[in-house]
Amino acid sequence: MTTKNFNLDLDREERMYIGTYLLERINDYMGNIREIRVSPELDVDAIVQFAQKLSFDHPVGAQEAIDHILEGLIQFQVHTPHPRYFGLYNPRPNDMGIMADTITAAFNPQLAAWSHAPVAVEIENYVLKEIAAKFGYSSETADGTFTTGGAEANLTAVLTALIHHFPSYAKEGLRALKAQPVMYASTESHHSLVKAARSSGLGTDSLRILPTDSQLRMNVRALQQQIAADRAAGYAPFLIIGTGGTTGSGAIDPIGALADVAEDERLWLHVDAAYGGACVFVPELLEQLHDFRRADSITFDAHKWMSVPMGAGMYLTRHRDILHRAFSISADYMPKEGAGLDRIDPFTHSIQWSRRFIGLKLYLSLATAGWEGYGKVVRQQAEMGERLRQELTRSNWTVVNDTVLPVVCFTDIRVPAESRSKFVSFICEEVLRSGQAWISIYEMNKEPVLRACITNYETTAEDIIALVELLKSVRAKMMN
Ligand SMILES: Cc1ncc(COP(=O)(O)O)c(C=O)c1O
Repeated sequence: MTTKNFNLDLDREERMYIGTYLLERINDYMGNIREIRVSPELDVDAIVQFAQKLSFDHPVGAQEAIDHILEGLIQFQVHTPHPRYFGLYNPRPNDMGIMADTITAAFNPQLAAWSHAPVAVEIENYVLKEIAAKFGYSSETADGTFTTGGAEANLTAVLTALIHHFPSYAKEGLRALKAQPVMYASTESHHSLVKAARSSGLGTDSLRILPTDSQLRMNVRALQQQIAADRAAGYAPFLIIGTGGTTGSGAIDPIGALADVAEDERLWLHVDAAYGGACVFVPELLEQLHDFRRADSITFDAHKWMSVPMGAGMYLTRHRDILHRAFSISADYMPKEGAGLDRIDPFTHSIQWSRRFIGLKLYLSLATAGWEGYGKVVRQQAEMGERLRQELTRSNWTVVNDTVLPVVCFTDIRVPAESRSKFVSFICEEVLRSGQAWISIYEMNKEPVLRACITNYETTAEDIIALVELLKSVRAKMMN
């Protein structure tokens, strides 16, 4: 019997034809991307109508369905792979990452149990160890797990720190604890921590949000004072979260000083280096990188600066047994073939159960680009960030943040302070409306400023100059 009547599969010839056709269309998209508007017009009715155009009562052919979705995506998305997307930490996805996701979809290895996908699990273990070593973790003790992204890695950090400090939490929950646990992060930390506070059962009141200095780095003195006040009030401090490259301005918390406090106070230190962690490929870029190894755990996202498609995050730790203590579990229905083999089933080692082969994107990318390739990517983007700062300054913009990362926050201080917020909104809206670039607004020290970040290894000096010219012409329009 054939499954053809279900219309779930194509036959071999059709698969070849449709596959080749799709690859050609992807090739065209990548090759002609500069001709596409970076961001769409947000016509809600048109978008909803487009999404509902195909009826499931009247199935269409594969090519028609593919044409439909490609048309929709080309017309209605912010093109994060565009070299003039100066956006959030969404990179251009690299070719080997795209190939890896295709292989993963086709082979669909199930990484929950080691014995179901042993080579996939071992590849992930290998990549995690290599990346952990780049952060300075010892291969003897380092451990980690791939996650869907930074948010899951940060949640893993909160859970592992809880288990480390309060071993009874796993069985008896928070109710059994004598004192309410509290954790510390800055106003600039990523809001996935708020969700982690909620989903761990700690509640958001347990997340102490600390002030920063003028460059948006956590204020260490305020941290020490808050810990002392919390202890005096009967709370149980357990975790400090520093950020190695904040989402808004690329600020890097003083990780060495945070590590000192964590040691003195016997707290877990987690470093959220979801984006900035890629500095490990160009260590001279970030002086304080050697302090990161003092962290108990680290979040690092490959789908940010390592340019693989979403979602590929990592939770790394220097405590070899902590993932086991947090997530070990047994279930009768799970495969037992690997039981005597001294290997770990990933479902006993992380939040996830069924697991996609997330690590393949990184494995194939590293296998073909090598550390050297990634070093060049990071260096090139850092240079483009520097070039952007120079061009902006030359055109009478004022860069207001200070970071080695290619995240540039800027404004025009010649505009009177009381009008600057309106000015910045106008500039950003006009840039987006032009379709020629994507930038955003971020509030720094209570003042909205413009933000542009280099997220694409194809972004060139010409793209930087084009952005600055566009900004200049929009500003002139406002002034007139
Ligand atoms: C510093 C930081 N941490 C965590 C996250 C969340 O990562 P994800 O979106 O991969 O879950 C982000 C996202 O931009 C981030 O910038």
